[in-house]
Amino acid sequence: MAAATPLYDTYARAPLRFERGEGVWLIAEDGTRYLDFAAGVAVNSLGHAHPHLVSALKEQAEKVWHLSNLYEVPGQESLSRRLTEATFADKVFFTNSGAEALECAIKTARRYHFAKGQPEKFHIITFEGAFHGRTLATIAAGGQAKYLEGFGPKAPGFYQVPFDDMAALKAAITEETAAILIEPIQGEGGIRTVSKEFLQELRALCDEYGLLLVLDEVQSGVGRTGKLFAHEWAGITPDIMAVAKGIGGGFPLGACLATEEAASGMVAGTHGSTYGGNPLAMAVGNAVLDVILADDLLQHVRDVSLVFRQGLASLADRFPDVIEEIRGEGLMLGIKAKVPSADLLKAIRAERLLAVPAGENVIRLLPPLITTAEEAREGLARLERAAEQLTAERRQASA
Ligand SMILES: Cc1ncc(COP(=O)(O)O)c(C=O)c1O
Repeated sequence: MAAATPLYDTYARAPLRFERGEGVWLIAEDGTRYLDFAAGVAVNSLGHAHPHLVSALKEQAEKVWHLSNLYEVPGQESLSRRLTEATFADKVFFTNSGAEALECAIKTARRYHFAKGQPEKFHIITFEGAFHGRTLATIAAGGQAKYLEGFGPKAPGFYQVPFDDMAALKAAITEETAAILIEPIQGEGGIRTVSKEFLQELRALCDEYGLLLVLDEVQSGVGRTGKLFAHEWAGITPDIMAVAKGIGGGFPLGACLATEEAASGMVAGTHGSTYGGNPLAMAVGNAVLDVILADDLLQHVRDVSLVFRQGLASLADRFPDVIEEIRGEGLMLGIKAKVPSADLLKAIRAERLLAVPAGENVIRLLPPLITTAEEAREGLARLERAAEQLTAERRQASA
């Protein structure tokens, strides 16, 4: 018997087919309009079909698509310069995805100690609930059994400690520790924010023990929290940082950023990627930065975040049977549900509102950074209707 679909069965897809997008809206094949607060899981940072991104992509498409890294790529020069000027970093390696940015970050950290004559220092400490991607190294870094099972021995050199547990972290550091890897806000883990104090202590700890601090800002970066990168709220800088998702606005693009010192082991021949830094990706990445670095975009994110937070706090008060807690920063928000989060997702989808599941029974709201206050209120109104519906169903069930 023929399979229902020749696609791998790795995804549990919702039965929705979208034909096009406009800003924060996705339009299904039958014309139904959905408010898209999933944004391709924090990827469509500027919404759908942003005119500046569309014209940058079209313009580049008419010039040259792909060159490889055998030659100089001017778009890489400009995008890396802009990224280093706007951050702690001195060096950039371009990738096509978040997991590849993490792979580069992990290799950079290990190679740093190797180049310093300490090849035994290759262990990386990570945190429970983390998600760093689906490659063999990044599932080892994430440490989640459900992603590791059945794929052979876990890649060596990754050690996990409980979230927000400084004592456990200190106890886990050995002579072989190379780096500490952490998401400033766990996304998949359920929008769990690492406190400013914890990040500051991490920085101090890394300095004290000669370890590299590696941040995974694949989801939290590029304006999502109302700063260009989430770690800026804590007033610290990492040694290495993985970036992806929002930087491409929907085009596959990632980057590993590092200080000159941290990247010092990554000499010619140590790493590479056929597509990484492709001219199309560079054109879009530069166009995304044009908008994100413009005067008022980050302030806009902070303002709209306030609208969301106030609205969500009020919904949490009014629907305690449905909403347990509101989490997150900027436009990386989580609703910890009292009902099964799948039920809440389904109920909001019936209201034509899209969001993303996460761990700890949380649903994530990751609206495009260009979401207006009015669109935020529209989303909150849809959430309210869904919460009303679920509350009524629960009352009926218990009556
Ligand atoms: C924090 C974080 N790191 C890494 C990744 C992996 O990125 P990608 O799916 O582009 O490989 C993700 C993806 O969800 C992520 O949220």
